[in-house]
Amino acid sequence: MKKISIAIDGHSSTGKSTLARQLAKSLGYVYIDSGAMYRAVALYAMENGLIGETLDEAGLVGHLQALELGFKLNPETGRSEIQLNGENVEKQIRTIEVSRYVSEVAAIPEVREKLVRLQQAMGAEKGVVMDGRDIGTVVLPGAELKLFMTAAPETRAARRYKELLDRGESVTFEEVLRNVRHRDHLDSTRATSPLTRADDAIRLDNSDMGLKEQYERVRSLADRILNAKK
Ligand code: DC
Repeated sequence: MKKISIAIDGHSSTGKSTLARQLAKSLGYVYIDSGAMYRAVALYAMENGLIGETLDEAGLVGHLQALELGFKLNPETGRSEIQLNGENVEKQIRTIEVSRYVSEVAAIPEVREKLVRLQQAMGAEKGVVMDGRDIGTVVLPGAELKLFMTAAPETRAARRYKELLDRGESVTFEEVLRNVRHRDHLDSTRATSPLTRADDAIRLDNSDMGLKEQYERVRSLADRILNAKK
């Protein structure tokens, strides 16, 4: 049966991973959360004293070779979860602390080089849904379906705020909104692979779109490609 690759890029907290998971599940594809890999590198830097007043870039680059990243199915959650040097760090990478530093870590060319290589290897076979910032432009430029997701910063901050509160973190809405705007800025202005829409990516603004409507719309786009001749 014909299989395709699906690349989902866009701003933070636009629900990329929710959509990517739904698609992967319904199509029987593998879901790869590329952001989790950048978060794991940021966590590593935090845990190894490489983030103080500033990020020790050269120090982190020196550690990169020894850093092992991958995904492994967690039977308890039924999800494939990020592993850093053999340890499941899925929970630790979702804190506001990691969110604060991850854009800086993701701006380091050597970090991107290493992660892009790993992601391309994971996506070498069709039948993957990968989400991130540069999937349609750099990692899987040949993906048959590319989406670029966006939503108003306030909408995104409200979603993220709720998630963090549910997880028991103590943050204010303003702090989260500031973080969303800050990350947008860093993600779109960095020199290496800035967040941009691939020319052939479909723009999806979900500020006023329910999850079901969004899923159905994208699933029908995928079906159209899957059912096309050749
Ligand atoms: O999607 P996320 O919020 O988990 O991503 C975390 C950070 O990693 C975010 O600041 C952008 C960066 N990132 C990236 O630069 N390239 C990717 N392919 C995925 C994420």
